[in-house]
Amino acid sequence: MNAKKPLLTIRLEGEQDVIIVRRRTKQIGQLLGMSESDQTKMATAVSEVSRNALQFAKKGTVVFFVDDATKPFFGVSIEDKGPGIQDITKFLEGKVNHCRGLFGARRMVDRFDVDTSENGTMIYLRKVLRSRARSFTTSEISEISTSLGKLAQQTPFDEVYSQNQELLRILEELQHKQELLDESLRREQDLSVSLENQVQARTNELLYARDDALQANNLKSQFVANISHELRTPLSSVVGLAELLATSLDLSPDDKELADNLLDSSKKLLEMMNNLLDFTRIDVGKMTIDKTQFSPRELLANVMTQFQDQAQRKSIMLFLESAFDVPEYCYGDEKKITHILMSLTKNALKFTNAGSIKLSVSVESTKDDSIKLKMSVTDTGIGIAKQNQASLFQPFAHVDGVTNKQFGGTGLGLSLTKSYVTLLGGEINVLSEPNRGSTFWFTVPLQCERNSACPTK
Ligand SMILES: Nc1ncnc2c1ncn2[C@@H]1O[C@H](COP(=O)(O)OP(=O)(O)OP(=O)(O)O)[C@@H](O)[C@H]1O
Ligand SMILES: [Mg+2]
Repeated sequence: MNAKKPLLTIRLEGEQDVIIVRRRTKQIGQLLGMSESDQTKMATAVSEVSRNALQFAKKGTVVFFVDDATKPFFGVSIEDKGPGIQDITKFLEGKVNHCRGLFGARRMVDRFDVDTSENGTMIYLRKVLRSRARSFTTSEISEISTSLGKLAQQTPFDEVYSQNQELLRILEELQHKQELLDESLRREQDLSVSLENQVQARTNELLYARDDALQANNLKSQFVANISHELRTPLSSVVGLAELLATSLDLSPDDKELADNLLDSSKKLLEMMNNLLDFTRIDVGKMTIDKTQFSPRELLANVMTQFQDQAQRKSIMLFLESAFDVPEYCYGDEKKITHILMSLTKNALKFTNAGSIKLSVSVESTKDDSIKLKMSVTDTGIGIAKQNQASLFQPFAHVDGVTNKQFGGTGLGLSLTKSYVTLLGGEINVLSEPNRGSTFWFTVPLQCERNSACPTK
């Protein structure tokens, strides 16, 4: 039984026939239940081969058929009486670059058979009908043929009209997709604009809040600075008078003790006031750096001298250590460095009951005519536990209440010291072990003349 069942025949005589062949291929593919993409592939292959036939033989015949010999196929044969295709294998393998039509057509179908000679060419294109499992019945074939017959009655005008309709449909679909795309783009833009606005509003709020906080903090610091400044003047008089009283000769021993206590307390109060004043000055950025020439060794020696009596009273040995390469003279803020060293030495004496305190200076680094000196104060005192070391440099920090009660103090000393060191461009830190002692060190960048180093001293 012949498995090939013809459906329609079209004669190829001009380019308009290729258009009709293409359309019919799609229409038949649709009637046979082919997918859109399979219809398009088959139609492209058929029109490619038909155009070749027209080009090389001027005429041809296209036959549409179904074939269910092995499995259900939609087939199209294109026959021409042209000169035949020489080197057909080269064409089919895509080796002829300027002429890839047959190669492309072959890749779009499931079976591609060629029969070519000098008498003409017959090409069969077959595409599997994937949605169909069984053979075609006679009534199905006649139904398809009837539908095709109706289509064949269409005039070329109808053909162009339906082609246009299809194009319009595709255009509409594209337009719809474009609108959807535009809409989602617009929504995304709206979203990002509203997000941007929200972020901007939040940023503004935060900036206002920060400005308010800064202003409030400045006002507070200003207030403390004014108050401590105002308090300092009468307090200096109290210290002066207490000093006069304590040194007057005609005091009974009891009165002398009272006067000494008064002097001691008023001195402490004045020192606290001075610290508070410096602290707020740094806070409001009013502290300036005054540079003068000074000798680092002399600076250390002067600080040590000031604590000599106090150390002797506690039977603590005070000594100096200076590295050989420390320059004889440097250029920097001597007053502030002295203040830092005094504050650290004062603490060392306060928190050491026996042993020694060492003040040392060495060169941390040098570059051209600038130098970084490292100064440290090492004691053999009560030490500080690791967990308490991090908060030491914050204002009003005491290691614990017991130590504070025993030794007294405002807890401003180290935080002020750190502010000074930072202002001078250096760093400060501590190495300490409970009951073994502490070393507080700081660095400070200074200027110095190279030849001022005194290696043998
Ligand atoms: N050399 C040290 N040895 C042991 N603990 C120390 C030493 N130096 C500082 N501390 C601890 O650090 C805390 C903070 O020191 P800081 O100098 O800031 O305050 P203070 O000495 O208590 O008070 P102030 O210096 O204002 O009179 C001290 O209370 C003490 O607990
Ligand atoms: Mg202190």
